[in-house]
Amino acid sequence: MSHKVLHLQLKSNHQLRPQPKRVEKTIVVVEDAPYVSAAKTRNKIPWWAASALLCLPIWAIIYVGTLERPDVEATGVLQHGAEIYAQRCSSCHGANGGGGAGYKLNDGEVMITFPHIEDMAEWITKGSDGFGVGNSYGDPERGRIVAGGMPAFGDVLNAEEIISVVLHERAVFGNSEDAVILATELDHIIEAGEMNLEMYFDAETITSSEIAEIFEETHNTTS
Ligand code: HEC
Repeated sequence: MSHKVLHLQLKSNHQLRPQPKRVEKTIVVVEDAPYVSAAKTRNKIPWWAASALLCLPIWAIIYVGTLERPDVEATGVLQHGAEIYAQRCSSCHGANGGGGAGYKLNDGEVMITFPHIEDMAEWITKGSDGFGVGNSYGDPERGRIVAGGMPAFGDVLNAEEIISVVLHERAVFGNSEDAVILATELDHIIEAGEMNLEMYFDAETITSSEIAEIFEETHNTTS
């Protein structure tokens, strides 16, 4: 903004007055810069249109959100495993694997007890009673002794469900890349009809090496 300052000096020339007064007045004339006056004369957006414009980005986000909502039916084994975990395991092991009545599984703990996936699947099939209170389970270095309280899931979950929940726990709580790879491989061969895991593991007789064969076959079929 530019200011034009006019100094006006008003002098009284009246001869009769003994002491002529000198009055000084300053008038400040404010002149708009060109862009300011342009803005003042421009047509204004009405208030309601302005608020509608403000809402536009939110509308856009909501719209895109509805377009990209994940397909509810697209469930691989990891997704399936997460659902089973929430239904069957979280009450004792915590919604995010933080533990409770059952051990903490997250922060990689589950991988320390079970370095081998087939041993973990066997444990979940048989539970505390299947292993027998006082016996050891998992990696001998971990030193776990069955104290009781872990249900057997061999009659409740079929092979696909047990493997899915095991993969979910290892991938999400154990940060296991191997589990993510195995899950992807399983998704492919199940979808291609090359493997069917709808049978149930017999908790009385199943061994971890029999379960390991499923994973070997998965690798062999995929590669
Ligand atoms: C009723 C409570 C309960 C439920 C439900 C439960 N667990 Fe457990 N879980 C336990 C207990 C208690 C132990 C320790 C068992 C023992 O010492 O005999 C355990 C141990 C484990 C372990 C070994 C952890 C370690 O570090 O020693 C894993 C893995 C496990 N559970 C996975 C699961 C999965 C998977 C499910 C769901 C399919 C599940 N649990 C459901 C109570 C439960």
